Amino acid sequence: MYKIVAKKDLASTIKLFEIYAPRVAKKAMPGQFVILRLDEKGERIPLTITDWSKEKGTVTVVVLEAGKTTKKLASMKVGDYILNFVGPLGKPAEVKNYGTVVFVGGGVGIALLYPEVRAFKEVGNKIITIIGARTKDLLIFEEELAKLSDELYIATDDGSKGHHGFVSDLLKKLLDEGKHIDLVVAVGPVIMMKVISNLTKPYGIKTIVSLNPIMVDGTGMCGSCRVIVGGETKFTCVDGPEFDGHLVDFDNLIARNQRYLEEEKLALERMKTYG
Ligand code: FAD
Ligand code: FES
Ligand code: MG
Repeated sequence: MYKIVAKKDLASTIKLFEIYAPRVAKKAMPGQFVILRLDEKGERIPLTITDWSKEKGTVTVVVLEAGKTTKKLASMKVGDYILNFVGPLGKPAEVKNYGTVVFVGGGVGIALLYPEVRAFKEVGNKIITIIGARTKDLLIFEEELAKLSDELYIATDDGSKGHHGFVSDLLKKLLDEGKHIDLVVAVGPVIMMKVISNLTKPYGIKTIVSLNPIMVDGTGMCGSCRVIVGGETKFTCVDGPEFDGHLVDFDNLIARNQRYLEEEKLALERMKTYG
């Protein structure tokens, strides 16, 4: 059992949890994730490791309320226990000095960028960060990322803060201005990662994306998380979650992520009715 030792509301639908899981904290690296199960009846869901403390033995996750399991987790309190908390899973990010790195984060993806931005900064990269959300209240980790970034740009879909539009508009502006960029790292909705990868491709700028297919076991056994990268089938949980965005078949991923929509809707309705 894994105890929730701290909880923070980052936005109306986004919560941060610190969980006591010393064995995960000891080995965690940027880019990795955990798979948790709340209770005996619960499903397994993956969440990125946003931060960790070897000293305190804690792992931080940031959760967007998307459906039944994430809403249930969001309602849990400090002192409650999570049944299973397996990790760290996946390959760590390849952290080295590339030169100038642009990080692009959308929605809850902003929180997932944070450990990578910190690690890339520590090895001497110049960091340009672009973050975006539907509206300003959903912008998270702004202060933390501002401290780590040489330049920080903000976009909101409704224009309530920063650029009125998408994060991709801001990256396009940098590219049009001829800004020297050695690497782009994009984390967020699949459609955002697709647009960003299509933008950088003609410029030949290496672009890393963190894929979020439906996962079950997280150990390469069930095949649920398969994606097509460079024409080959890869298992995101063991071969990823980070891949070369120019090689990913995003349309296949979008279609596969929608395959349980009916069941997910039903599960949420049942939870609202029966608890
Ligand atoms: P549901 O209503 O069941 O599903 C909503 C949508 O979430 C689905 O349409 C589907 O696209 C996706 N989803 C559903 N079940 C799964 C599953 N078992 N695995 C993956 N996706 C699923 N979300 C965060 O809020 N914070 C994170 O740090 C985070 N990190 C992730 C890291 C990885 C490697 C992956 C693959 C996903 C990550 N996600 C993260 C997404 C998160 O796992 C889903 O939002 C969650 O599983 C939804 O569960 P639900 O029951 O609340 O919603
Ligand atoms: Fe089962 Fe990746 S989640 S193979
Ligand atoms: Mg679910």
